[in-house]
Amino acid sequence: MQRSAAAVTAAEQAGRRRSFAVISHPDAGKSTLTEALALHARVISEAGAVHGKAGRRGVVSDWMEMERARGISITSAALQFEYHGTVINLLDTPGHADFSEDTYRVLSAVDSAVMLLDAAKGLEPQTLKLFDVCRHRGIPVLTFVNKWDRPGREALELCDELLERIGLQPMPLTWPVGEAGHFRGVLDVADGSFVRYARTAGGATAADEQRLDAAEAAAVEGADWTRAVEEAELMAASGGEFDPARFYDASATPVLFGAAVLNFGVRHLLDLLVELAPAPEPRIDVDGNPRPLDADFSAFVFKVQTGMDPAHRDQVAFARVCSGVFERGMVVTNATTKKPFATKYVQQVFGQQRSTVDTAYPGDVIGLVNASALRVGDTLYAGRPAVRFPGLPSFAPAHFAVARPADLSRAKQFRKGVDQLASEGVVQLLKSDLRGDAAPVFAAVGPMQFEVAAHRLEHEFSSPVRLDRLPYSAVRRLADPAQRAMVDAGRRSEVVTRADGADLALFEDEMAMRILQRQHPELALEPLVAEGG
Ligand code: G4P
Repeated sequence: MQRSAAAVTAAEQAGRRRSFAVISHPDAGKSTLTEALALHARVISEAGAVHGKAGRRGVVSDWMEMERARGISITSAALQFEYHGTVINLLDTPGHADFSEDTYRVLSAVDSAVMLLDAAKGLEPQTLKLFDVCRHRGIPVLTFVNKWDRPGREALELCDELLERIGLQPMPLTWPVGEAGHFRGVLDVADGSFVRYARTAGGATAADEQRLDAAEAAAVEGADWTRAVEEAELMAASGGEFDPARFYDASATPVLFGAAVLNFGVRHLLDLLVELAPAPEPRIDVDGNPRPLDADFSAFVFKVQTGMDPAHRDQVAFARVCSGVFERGMVVTNATTKKPFATKYVQQVFGQQRSTVDTAYPGDVIGLVNASALRVGDTLYAGRPAVRFPGLPSFAPAHFAVARPADLSRAKQFRKGVDQLASEGVVQLLKSDLRGDAAPVFAAVGPMQFEVAAHRLEHEFSSPVRLDRLPYSAVRRLADPAQRAMVDAGRRSEVVTRADGADLALFEDEMAMRILQRQHPELALEPLVAEGG
């Protein structure tokens, strides 16, 4: 079969794309790193264009605050820029107070992730949660240890933590010269040279780098250089020698050290993304067949955002292109409903910036405007053959609340609204035998999801909701429904049922769970990281 010119372009364009997300805990420096990456790639002429110049976080957090005040979910989209002929798609993972299921879903749309660690803090709770999802999906992870310009922990200790806590073998590609707080550059492990950084005013332009050979480095840095060389050798000798295959099978992570705020180490990270990070690969459909990159257009929706423009009550669906060429104006088919969808308005959205998209290729993210018919997990395609990708997994919730209509005369609208929100994935809906159908349990990864649900029930469905938080934070899947009574009888636990029929055991905390398990050693509980999809 002959391939059209456009189809050849799609596979070629996919090959020059890298789509990734930064996973980190709030304050590790994700916004700063995003800005530094874009700055380095020179899409932005000076620091601040993305996140506001004075107090870097200003603009973005104001934007979020605005959305929050309106009770709508936080923007999660992609920043696209070109670097040395490679198109980089950096997908935003909302990760602050708004940490929610959307944050996880973004990881279904990337080919790799950069795990950003604060040198003084190492692995932190949100990083661990996001890393679990990467591991579950087999996403290769690069590690960037940030804030090396400040006093922090020892480089060896941070590497040990990766291995010991999450079983991820660190493979340092650079090693810091000068302890945290006295950072002068890095040893380039590949060739043994010293990359010396020079500070530029306020870190406002790409950092100056100077390369010295080992002898020169030893003369300039003395004991600090010797120590860096010894530590890097120790890492290599203890299983940390670089092996790309181990990065691709996600059993090891290349590690870089730097300081995003000073743009130190940022070039290295970009180069690594270009050289090492995987390009988009054919996505597997529901029948287990890969959709070739050069097949006709296909994409899946990983996030739906309502009400970005309250005047129009619009809905934007963010989709990742999986195959073919997307051209604005195309009429595509929604594989779930079999209905056509006209892509007249298509945007790229990042922070407060928006631009119209005319063409997109595998790995790119498109924001489809007026997309009220689209749901998270939907597949879109054009031409033949028809395709459907697996739906997105549901993630282990950590917050639970009983929902009741505040106005009983609005019970019908309430039910309709609740079903709608659940189908969009705004919250997960659980059924509780204790409370009956009239009082469903909302479950969420982050509490902000409740706010969004409450706001939308009130404003879109004219049915204000009363949410009573439940004291549970730990959840497991109950393997044997016959064991329900054991959990329901516990004073700090109960069983609820998910829409797919799975029984979930909720516990006040891990301790309450362990106590019950000690009382009933036969109780079969399974972890629940990301299921389905
Ligand atoms: P986040 O998006 O992950 O939450 O983090 P963000 O980039 O907003 O950074 C959090 C704080 O850490 C900011 O300081 C930022 O300047 C600082 N930071 C980021 N990277 C580095 C680094 O490499 N070295 C040092 N020393 N600091 C870094 P802030 O005080 O909250 O804001 P600001 O007033 O300094 O901008």
